[in-house]
Amino acid sequence: MAIASASPFSLEGQTILIAGGANGIGASAAAICAGLGAKLVLADVSDATPVAESLRREGHQASAASCDVTNRTAVERLVSGVGTMVVCSGICPFDDWMADDWDDVYERTNAVNVKGTVNCVRAALPGMMERCGGRIVLVGSLAGRSGGLLSGPHYVASKGAVGALVRWFARKGAPRNVLVNGVAPGPVDTGMIAGRDLNLAAVPLGRIARPEEIASTIFPCFLWVFRRVHIVPLFLPTMRCSLGVAPNAA
Ligand SMILES: NC(=O)c1ccc[n+]([C@@H]2O[C@H](COP(=O)([O-])OP(=O)(O)OC[C@H]3O[C@@H](n4cnc5c(N)ncnc54)[C@H](O)[C@@H]3O)[C@@H](O)[C@H]2O)c1
Repeated sequence: MAIASASPFSLEGQTILIAGGANGIGASAAAICAGLGAKLVLADVSDATPVAESLRREGHQASAASCDVTNRTAVERLVSGVGTMVVCSGICPFDDWMADDWDDVYERTNAVNVKGTVNCVRAALPGMMERCGGRIVLVGSLAGRSGGLLSGPHYVASKGAVGALVRWFARKGAPRNVLVNGVAPGPVDTGMIAGRDLNLAAVPLGRIARPEEIASTIFPCFLWVFRRVHIVPLFLPTMRCSLGVAPNAA
């Protein structure tokens, strides 16, 4: 990973792949990283072209790639060779866990949130370890720890698993200078929870986070100043003004 700039806040020379980069937190992370000079690859099952085009219009380097993270072959094609990756892809179905068809919802949620995450890291990690350098950020959720405010057991279980995976992958990659970190947001104003009735009294800040507030906790993992210090394993809970408290989450 060549570092082209002396600025501690520059991401110049880095290509960052963001799974789930078409919307929400992923798209915000893309905008922040592009603004700091990184080249972005936005992989998503939804069309990420509008986000990539908008970044290019602003003079940044970005491309969109169609990719379903549950498809291991497609993920491997895209991800092998990347040095920096964010896994933001995820779904949060609000189905009733007592409904007859809930087993399908459970399987689908875990396929995207857990297996999809594993697929991405499994495709990227060996190459990063071979090259002795790499950075990965996985996006979990406070719901994985707290039980959540809105979400069902399928989502909560899947995000608890992402938290465990951050630690497992971090342990695996660290000896070869591959640092794996995680971000665990509380409720964030994205399409994922749009229209949901959230009890703001249960949120310490009294409002939900904006996607860029969560995205701004991701890019420091890629700054060269942090390439020289130990920041693994870190699973950063992000609920504004409530670090370490976070009793509730989406
Ligand atoms: N919004 C919240 O309140 C909240 C809270 C905690 C954690 N999170 C997590 O943050 C991450 C980003 O979510 P968001 O809030 O930006 O929601 P979002 O719905 O705006 O973005 C999720 C993205 O993942 C993509 N995606 C879904 N399934 C995919 C698949 N199979 N393959 C590839 N891409 C796929 C979607 O197309 C979408 O672009 C998710 O992992 C989510 O669980 C969100």
